[in-house]
Formats: sequence, C-alpha cells, structure tokens
Amino acid sequence: HYDMHNDIKEVFFTEQQIQKRVAELGDALTQEFQSVADKGETIVLVSVLRGAAIFMADLARYMNVPLEMDYMAISSYGSGTKSSGVVRILKDLSSEIKGKHVIIAEDILDSGLTLTYLLKNLASREPASLSVVPLLRKKVKEQAPIDCLHVGFECPDEFIVGYGLDYAEKYRNLPYIGVLKPEVYE
Ligand code: PRP
Ligand code: MN
Ligand code: MG
Repeated sequence: HYDMHNDIKEVFFTEQQIQKRVAELGDALTQEFQSVADKGETIVLVSVLRGAAIFMADLARYMNVPLEMDYMAISSYGSGTKSSGVVRILKDLSSEIKGKHVIIAEDILDSGLTLTYLLKNLASREPASLSVVPLLRKKVKEQAPIDCLHVGFECPDEFIVGYGLDYAEKYRNLPYIGVLKPEVYE
C-alpha cells in the first residue's frame, strides 16, 4: 500500500529540529510581546492558509501570552511548482485588526510576492504593529525585501514539501520538511 514517506528523497529539517526551532520562536515572541499583553493590548496571530496552518498551530502553543488566532487565504502558486505571479485573496480575516498587534506566521518566504502583498494589505488596516515570522526563508536571487522579526530556518532554493508545504495539495501532513524524489513529479 501507499506510503507517503517513500516519496521523499531527502529530509532537510526533521520533526525534532522543527519542534525545537518553533519552541524557540514561541519563547522569543512571548518575551517580545509580554509588555504588550500586560498593557491589555490585543495580539493576533495571523496564519496564511493553507501552508502556514500547521506552523501557526504549533507556534501558538509555544506562545505564553493571550492571543487571538485568525486566518487569511492567499494563493500565488496554484498546483505547479513555480509562482504564477498572481496573488489572490481567497479568504479574508474574520475580525478587524485596527489597533491590534498582528504577527503573521507564514510557512515560507520564497519570491516574497505573497508577503509583500499581505503586508501592504494589512498595514492599510492600521494595526498597532505588524510583524512577520516565516518558518523558512528560501535563499533565492530575486526575493522582495521583507523585514522579518524572526526566521525559523534559511533553506536552499529547492522545491520542498511537508509541515504545511504542498506539492499539488499533497504532503502538507508530513511532520518533517524534505524534497520529493524526481519521479513523483512525473
Ligand atoms: C506558498 C507558501 C507561501 C508562498 C510563498 O503558498 O505557502 O504562502 O507560496 O511564495 P512567495 O514568497 O513566492 O509568494 P501557495 O500560494 O502555494 O498556497 P498554499 O499555502 O495554499 O500552498
Ligand atoms: Mn501559502
Ligand atoms: Mg502551495
């Protein structure tokens, strides 16, 4: 029978490495947003569906401050492995963010198209602060400059899957991050 793990050529980040790093990010954010929380101001963790859902779910549980969780769906890739260059809002946030401290948890920063669009869009809603925390930042030549509060891992310019990242909507549920065997694309 089918075994998802057989489709993986190489693991880049193991489940243990990811969990350790996400815990570190959660600890750092807890410290950074402690005073904001103490003042009674609202913190909103925003996840960019669908890729970032898993990262945000883990990150939220490593953050020891009161926070809201909200979701936005944006797509730039479709089903291929290359960005189409088109960013679309598929689902907007459920609540207003005006005056709130927004932390965007994104799975990966690649061309930067998605985050450039998102930052501009969310900034116009006048949040008290707006921070970006991608789990992964790809080392690519042409990347829009994005000011990140933290980055989980730098990663090579290869098509990776797992821990939220998909290939044609599959492999998001792998607990680790890796590259597919070439025959899987065929
Ligand atoms: C992927 C990924 C990021 C974005 C990064 O999302 O999850 O959101 O692309 O690429 P960029 O920096 O070049 O914009 P995708 O559009 O595949 O949607 P998904 O999260 O539903 O998989
Ligand atoms: Mn995404
Ligand atoms: Mg995708």
